[in-house]
Amino acid sequence: MCQFRWRKVSSSFIALAFIPVLATFGKRRIPQSRIPVSVYSRGVPELRERNIRYLSSGHQGGHRKAVRVMAEIKGKGEGRYFLKNAFILDMATMAGGEYTSVKDFYRDRSIFITGGTGFMGKVLVEKLLRSCPDIKNIYLLMRPKKGQNVQERLQELLNAPLFEKLRRDSPGELSKIIPVAGDVTEPELGISANDQDMLIRSVSVVFHSAATVKFDEALKLSVTINMLGTKRLVQLCHRMRNVEALIHVSTAYCNCDRHDVAEEIYPVAKEPEQVIALTQWMDDKMVEDLTPSLIAGRPNTYTFTKALAERMLQRERGSLPVAIVRPSIVLSSYREPVAGWVDNCNGPTGIIAAAGKGFFRTMLCHKDKVADLVPVDIVINLMICAAWKTATHRTDTISIYNCCTGQQNPITWKEFVDLSFKYSRLHPANDAVWYPDGRCHSSIILNKLCVTLQHTLPAHILDTFARLKGSRPIMVRVQAKLSKATKCLEYFSTKQWNFRDDNVRRLGEQLSPEDREIFMFDVKQINWPSYLEHYILGIRQFILKESPDTLPAARSHITKLYWLHRAMQFGMLIIMLRVLLLRSAATRGAFFSLLSIVLRICRLIV
Ligand SMILES: NC(=O)c1ccc[n+]([C@@H]2O[C@H](COP(=O)([O-])OP(=O)(O)OC[C@H]3O[C@@H](n4cnc5c(N)ncnc54)[C@H](OP(=O)(O)O)[C@@H]3O)[C@@H](O)[C@H]2O)c1
Repeated sequence: MCQFRWRKVSSSFIALAFIPVLATFGKRRIPQSRIPVSVYSRGVPELRERNIRYLSSGHQGGHRKAVRVMAEIKGKGEGRYFLKNAFILDMATMAGGEYTSVKDFYRDRSIFITGGTGFMGKVLVEKLLRSCPDIKNIYLLMRPKKGQNVQERLQELLNAPLFEKLRRDSPGELSKIIPVAGDVTEPELGISANDQDMLIRSVSVVFHSAATVKFDEALKLSVTINMLGTKRLVQLCHRMRNVEALIHVSTAYCNCDRHDVAEEIYPVAKEPEQVIALTQWMDDKMVEDLTPSLIAGRPNTYTFTKALAERMLQRERGSLPVAIVRPSIVLSSYREPVAGWVDNCNGPTGIIAAAGKGFFRTMLCHKDKVADLVPVDIVINLMICAAWKTATHRTDTISIYNCCTGQQNPITWKEFVDLSFKYSRLHPANDAVWYPDGRCHSSIILNKLCVTLQHTLPAHILDTFARLKGSRPIMVRVQAKLSKATKCLEYFSTKQWNFRDDNVRRLGEQLSPEDREIFMFDVKQINWPSYLEHYILGIRQFILKESPDTLPAARSHITKLYWLHRAMQFGMLIIMLRVLLLRSAATRGAFFSLLSIVLRICRLIV
């Protein structure tokens, strides 16, 4: 305390001595862009300690902070006078008095990524290689799968459309990816002793994205992958000599039992170690029976194990520099490497793809509730910057980033569903079975009725035709799968959360304008109609694997379906009227009087 006061007083004196210099500087040269304060404030620890290193224009957060600091040093009035035309850019990170750009931070560093073969992991690898070309190596944890070893999987990964830009512009970058065979369900992540040594010696930034994202995964497996996997990764990080940042990817919904979710780790009713122990000694059947009571308050095993993983991370991290990024519902890319890129059907994507093909038309969701959707490249940019911040601005606590759109740029479920249908009609899928049209319903009963009439019944009719034609009936099975997917989503589409994102906004403010542009995660910039148009085009191209060249033919097919759809609606109306007319003489009388009035009016007009 004493030492602090002495430092404050002494630095105030030194700062006072600099005021005239800075004031002159402020008056004459402030309109110029960033000029390091450190040049002028050498020996002024007050400024250095508070990370005020640049004079700049147009930075409100830094300006406010500077006013506060200078007011403390010099007295309120003078502080304001001195800064009246100036803004001070509040830089979180400086090396030798200079701002270290994100790209420079990653120079010569080696990165270890788990989940790099997944939807988000791929975008992370691609972006790191493209935007941080001086990266040394990227080690990817991979498990052999579907008869492919890790080398073969890597080759397949790099041949994917996502890497096209890199393959074309800088193919050399791809050789920096080194596959590491392993599996998070095994002790020591299943990584060989040699590979562990290599990671321990060379890695300084770790991204942990591997997880099972199946909402209704068996609890035992979910605990093993999402919790034990995280624990084993933390143990490996403890052995790394140069680790500067560990970014754990969680989910905004891990706290879905609360309405207001701040950027902090909340207590969970069960202890992580207790849950791990329980699921290890019990057999599968016992765990399954106990699951509903264990996860009480949460809708599925996924959100439960992700919440416990955060809690465990908090306990196990020791002095490791850790940050947690919590995205909400991740959809296709906003603009990088191409707008609309998406390659997995999780969340609403599979449902929207089915809607585009014409066999999905109704869903239970509260129209005016916010659908918290976020583009994948925005999440990845935030993760990259979160690692930069964690490494260059060390703190004792875990920083949490709620990567969501609901606070700054909300879109409702109705808007999302309506726009998705609109663009599914404008850019239709090939061979759609019916005209894409539908809506969300807030009423469970009405939705059930629509599901029966618009999903189940047509599926049975189509399968009967298929059987008669001698082909394989698939529609009932497809509808069963879709129904399971919508059931998983219903919990999230009928509720709303306040995901606070102050840390995300602050991180954005701490970046230089150039970094803010390269690693854009400002969700306010998302224009939802345009974004969703690209989303639909992305689903068509990357999920349904339909080339953009086939669009004209698909459009003419959809026009025919439109007339068929209208004819069908008209036919249904006639049948309904006919049934009504036959049932009661009064309705019949009313109908014919109405008809004669209409005819008389027509005659008068003609
Ligand atoms: N997508 C979203 O909407 C969303 C939203 C919020 C949070 N998140 C979080 O973001 C992270 C990534 O999600 P995602 O959408 O990219 O999921 P994803 O596409 O299913 O990818 C999961 C990744 O984890 C890997 N993995 C799973 N089990 C593994 C094991 N036993 N050993 C090694 N690797 C294993 C998978 O490897 P294989 O290729 O070998 O299967 C894959 O690379 C997850 O932590 C998830 O909780 C996602």
